[in-house]
Amino acid sequence: MDAYAFPNGNVFYRKLAHDRPMIAYGEGIYLYDRQGKKYLDGSGGPFVVNVGHGRQEIVEAMQQQLVSAAYVHAIMFTSEPLERYASELAEVVNMRDPRFYFLSSGSEVVEAALKLARQIQMARGEEGRHIVIGRHQSYHGMTLGALGVSGRPPLRKPYLDMMCETPHVQPPYPFRNESTGEQAAAELERVIQEYGPERVAAFIAEPISGASLGAAVPPADYWPWIRQVCDQFGVLLIADEVLTGFGRTGKWWALEHWDVSPDILVSAKGTAGGYFPFGFVGASRDDVQQIHSVLGDFNHGGTFSHHAVGAAAALATLKILKEENLVDNAARMGTLLGAKLQSALGHLPNVGDIRGRGLLWGIEIIRDRETKAPFPASQHIAWEIWLKAFERGLIVYYSQGCADGVNGDVIMVGPPLIVEENQIDEIVEILAAAINIQFK
Ligand SMILES: Cc1ncc(COP(=O)(O)O)c(C=O)c1O
Repeated sequence: MDAYAFPNGNVFYRKLAHDRPMIAYGEGIYLYDRQGKKYLDGSGGPFVVNVGHGRQEIVEAMQQQLVSAAYVHAIMFTSEPLERYASELAEVVNMRDPRFYFLSSGSEVVEAALKLARQIQMARGEEGRHIVIGRHQSYHGMTLGALGVSGRPPLRKPYLDMMCETPHVQPPYPFRNESTGEQAAAELERVIQEYGPERVAAFIAEPISGASLGAAVPPADYWPWIRQVCDQFGVLLIADEVLTGFGRTGKWWALEHWDVSPDILVSAKGTAGGYFPFGFVGASRDDVQQIHSVLGDFNHGGTFSHHAVGAAAALATLKILKEENLVDNAARMGTLLGAKLQSALGHLPNVGDIRGRGLLWGIEIIRDRETKAPFPASQHIAWEIWLKAFERGLIVYYSQGCADGVNGDVIMVGPPLIVEENQIDEIVEILAAAINIQFK
């Protein structure tokens, strides 16, 4: 593999100059390429492969649906896996009597959530509310609406003229910013007042930060305070659990760590374990019914919405999560992973912070321990470490921009929720080797 070569085939990817190995198959938490090389999937891709590779029960559930009816349009039919999945999902979400709308990706469910927030406000008689407040150093997707509420300057920059303006507040980031939940709520309130509460529809945020801030966990009072401000000003709280949903952080939903419920919940990535592109946006029955009474229909669509095969895959994934107690396993293995990362890496001069919850951990790499100064983005430190781990058969995730939107390197670890203790040791050992070689 030449990590810097422009590939020969007719495919192009996001990272243009990076030759990739050809995958052969996956099993459990391991992947094997055509050359026979074995990789431990220590991040489940980008936190997608929650129940492991090669799960025959998911394949069979999908196959059954594919054989009976591979595709039906959601305007014309419903399907048994879809109805069953929605009712089983309702039992595990942290919302009362929810209703779900299904789409194919995180960006799509975020787009739908923005439109849903707008329509809930319209149905409540709040016609003027259309602004959605986001946070700096956040990520909600690549489509223009989702990118608009995201806070990653390099991703947004080429498209600024094409997006509607969105206010952003500071994210909770204890390593570099010690503000309390009360201070964060005061900032949110100030922004709501500045734009006018009668114009603000919603606030969107990741309950525990994903790649942008590398698993930064908000302080204990953050979410209760944010919930309170949203309630006070009639602003809907959209929890983006695209990455943190379905047990990734050791609870079904990351917001549960704060005992807070959202008004609108979105999830995607691990929803169908990576076996099918599938995600959902959920809201209360009351809000959806109000849209029906006042506006008629939900003004949104999608050829592949409510996909029966996706629902079959998601239903089988949910069954595995429940039957194998994988949310509990994520909590237990996560505590172990955090402790082992700390003891193997915590003392290294270029490791600034090790943070996370459940099976979602971020290791922030810094240039200087005293000042917490990051490496310049041009050195691509996270990518270089990622590459060294990959060459040694460990897949982790990397991200840049945590410190100030552009600079700041994070390596993230988030194995499938089926991970076992000896595999945690393997992850930590290879990652430590990769970091040590980077800075030797
Ligand atoms: C929190 C969050 N929201 C939304 C998205 C967008 O999801 P997708 O890449 O499936 O469009 C992501 C993807 O990384 C994410 O982490």
